[in-house]
Amino acid sequence: MSEASIGIGLIGCGTVGSGVITLLGEMREAYAQRLGRSLELRRVLVRNTTTPRDAVVPANLMTDDPETFFGDPDIDIVVEVAGGLDPVGGFVERALAAGKHVVTANKSLLAARGVELFALARKHDVCIAFEASCGGGIPILQALKFGLAANRVDALYGILNGTCNYILSQMSDHGAEYDAALTDAKAKGFAEADPTLDVTGADAAQKLAILASLAFGVAVNADDVSCQGIDEIEIEDIHYGVELGYAIKLLAIAERQDEGYVLRVHPCFVHMDEPLSQVRDAFNAVSVFGHAVGHSMFYGHGAGQMPTASAVVSDILNVAAGWYPQAFKSMAIWPDQHEPSQMVDPDDVNNRYYLRIAARDVPGVMAKVAKIIGDLGISISAILQHESDEDSGFVPLIITTHDAREGSVRQAAEALAQSDVVAGRPACLRIIELPTG
Ligand code: NDP
Ligand code: HSE
Repeated sequence: MSEASIGIGLIGCGTVGSGVITLLGEMREAYAQRLGRSLELRRVLVRNTTTPRDAVVPANLMTDDPETFFGDPDIDIVVEVAGGLDPVGGFVERALAAGKHVVTANKSLLAARGVELFALARKHDVCIAFEASCGGGIPILQALKFGLAANRVDALYGILNGTCNYILSQMSDHGAEYDAALTDAKAKGFAEADPTLDVTGADAAQKLAILASLAFGVAVNADDVSCQGIDEIEIEDIHYGVELGYAIKLLAIAERQDEGYVLRVHPCFVHMDEPLSQVRDAFNAVSVFGHAVGHSMFYGHGAGQMPTASAVVSDILNVAAGWYPQAFKSMAIWPDQHEPSQMVDPDDVNNRYYLRIAARDVPGVMAKVAKIIGDLGISISAILQHESDEDSGFVPLIITTHDAREGSVRQAAEALAQSDVVAGRPACLRIIELPTG
C-alpha cells in the first residue's frame, strides 16, 4: 500500500455498494485523520454502467469490464459487495491471487468456499475481512474472533435474517399479510437479490455456518446446518404463541454437545421474557454463551444500506490500519485452520415442542391424541382448546410438550396426520429454552 493513500476497488454498486461509496465520501477527512492516509476509490465494477445508483459515482471510475478493473495497479483493497458464487467467486480468487486484501459481505460465497478462499489469501500473504457477511451492522465477528477470544463458546442463538424478522414482526405486531411484508422488505433493501434465500432460512444458515466456525473453531459449511424457513408459518400459530406468552422468531442455533455440534435454523417460540423475543423489524441479535463470560448479547440493524456499509467500511479501515492483516497471520482462528467437526443429528436432541392439531370434534378424541403422543414417550406439558362456534367438525387443539426427542415428535406428528381423528398435518414448532448464563 502506498504511503500517501490506499486504493479501493469496489465490485458491486447496489444497495450495499452505494452505501459504501456514500460513507467513504462523507467521512473522507475523518478516515484520513484516523489512518494517517486517505482512502481513494479507484474503480467500481458493475454489470451495467448505465443503471442509476443511490450514490454519486464519477463516470470515469465505473466499468463493466473485469479486465479494466483488475488491470488497475493502484487498487490495494478489493471490496466485494456484488453477491453470489459465480462469477463473483472468481473475482475474489483473482483479487487474492494478485495480492490484494479482500473485504466481502458475501455470506453465500464464504459458506460455500470459505476454507479454500482463506487458504488462498494466506498463500498470497493477504487477508479476507468479512464482518458484513453476518448480522449487518453488528460487529459480531469482531466479538467472536477477538473480544470473546478467552472463552470456550458453548452455544449461540441468533436472529440473523433481517428480512424474516421484519416479515414476522409485521405479521404479529401489525397484522400484515406475509406477501405484503415481503414486498416491503424488498423495497427497503433488506432482502437478497433472490429473496427465497431469506424466507427459506438459507441466508441465515450461511451466516450460522460462518459464525459457528469462528465460535467453535471447527470447519463448518452451510450443508451442515439443518434448515427450515418462515415460508410455511401460519398466522394462527403466531396468535396462539402470543396467547401462550411466546413470539415466533426464525432462530439460527449452534449448540455444543458432548458428541459434537447441533447447527440449525428454524422458526421457534421464544418466551416473551427472553430479550430475543423483543427483537423486532429488520434488527438482528445474537446471544452468545461463553464458559467464562456467561451470556453476552449483541443487537443492531441486521440489514439495509448504511448499517451494512458501516460493517464493510470498518473492515476497510481495519485492513488499511494493518492490524487485521497481522491478526490474520498471527492468530489460528480462521476457517482454513479449523478441523472438520462432528455434527449431531437434530432428531437425537431433546427440546420442548408446540403442536397445533385440527382434531375431530367428537367424544374420545383427546384420549386418542394423548395415546399417540404418549406411546412415543412424549410427555404433555399443557393442552389448550377453545370453544368454537364453527361447524367444520374440527377444532384446533394446542399441545405443548416437556423435553422430548425431536425424532419422536416428528413421528408423533406423522402418526397424528395419519389418524382418523385429525385433519391434515399438525403444525409443529420448537419452544426454545436458552441456557441460564
Ligand atoms: P444488490 O443486488 O443491490 O447489488 C449488487 C451489485 O453487484 C449491483 O451493483 C450489481 O451490478 C453488482 N453485480 C452483481 N453481479 C455482478 C457481476 N457479475 N459483475 C459485476 N457486478 C455485479 O445487492 P446488495 O447490495 O443488497 O448485496 C450485495 C452483497 O451484500 C450480497 O452478497 C449480499 O448478500 C450482501 N449483504 C447485503 C445486505 C443488505 O442488507 N442488502 C446486508 C449484508 C450483506 P448492477 O447494478 O450493474 O446490476
Ligand atoms: N438479506 C439479508 C437479511 C441481508 O435480510 O438479513 C443481510 O445479510
